Amino acid sequence: MLAAESHVDRSILGPGVFVETNVGGTQVLLDCARQAGVKRFVQVSTDEVYGSLGPTGKFNENSPLRPSSPYSASKAAADLLTLSYAHTFGMDVVVTRCSNNYGPYQFPEKLIPLMIVNALEDRKLPVYGDGMQVRDWIHVEDHCRALLAALEKGKPGEVYNIGSDNEWPNLRIVTRLLEILGKSTDLIEHVKDRPGHDRRYAIDATKARTELGWAPRIEFSEGLQATVDWYVKNRGWWEHVRTGEYRTYYERNYGGR
Ligand SMILES: NC(=O)c1ccc[n+]([C@@H]2O[C@H](COP(=O)([O-])OP(=O)(O)OC[C@H]3O[C@@H](n4cnc5c(N)ncnc54)[C@H](O)[C@@H]3O)[C@@H](O)[C@H]2O)c1
Repeated sequence: MLAAESHVDRSILGPGVFVETNVGGTQVLLDCARQAGVKRFVQVSTDEVYGSLGPTGKFNENSPLRPSSPYSASKAAADLLTLSYAHTFGMDVVVTRCSNNYGPYQFPEKLIPLMIVNALEDRKLPVYGDGMQVRDWIHVEDHCRALLAALEKGKPGEVYNIGSDNEWPNLRIVTRLLEILGKSTDLIEHVKDRPGHDRRYAIDATKARTELGWAPRIEFSEGLQATVDWYVKNRGWWEHVRTGEYRTYYERNYGGR
């Protein structure tokens, strides 16, 4: 189950639709899957359900759920609902929890495409707070390969963390993107931090590596370069998705910061 409201900032601006889609929508699909006799239901979740980490350590599948945004809380609720269908109805379900994705076709509300497209237009790059929030980045194709492995080889009722051991502070990602694009760091503008911004996520994916036989293949510097190249070549795509509703969202989220 990939369909979801997926962006933390939007969940701060309006939590209701996150509960409706991510919790209510998951329940509807679980019921449909059950009625239709679907063989296995994979709930695609996020490392954000575990909450924020200090400077060291990693989350594993037994870490307590401590979601801190309406987005992550709605995903945690959906995970628990999914697991309850296994326990109550004997449904075959698997839950995956992945770290931050990047790659082509990513909506330019998310950090990496947002910074690339703003830089390509010589607009300011709004970096939240000190920019030292750490995320563990994985290429979307590695995530997709893990989802397929979970579908085919996961054990019923189990949770699998998916991550690349690739931690970067946001500000370093942004400066790296500017370097690739040959643009000045003067474009960076530190803006008011996101309320309740989690400081660090890091995920231990040992279980997925050993039980699913999965491992990430795409090295970060190559994946990032390819992603920048994709946005340079596909200007028509991102110019199109940034019209209409995106402008309203951008103004609401960054306008007063
Ligand atoms: N992007 C990440 O870094 C990341 C990391 C871990 C997990 N995830 C999870 O992966 C999934 C996909 O994330 P994404 O980043 O591709 O999100 P996205 O917002 O780019 O895509 C979500 C998709 O869900 C669809 N959708 C939303 N509400 C719907 C509804 N009510 N009915 C039908 N379709 C609906 C949207 O149209 C869109 O195609 C989500 O469940 C997200 O929580 C994402």
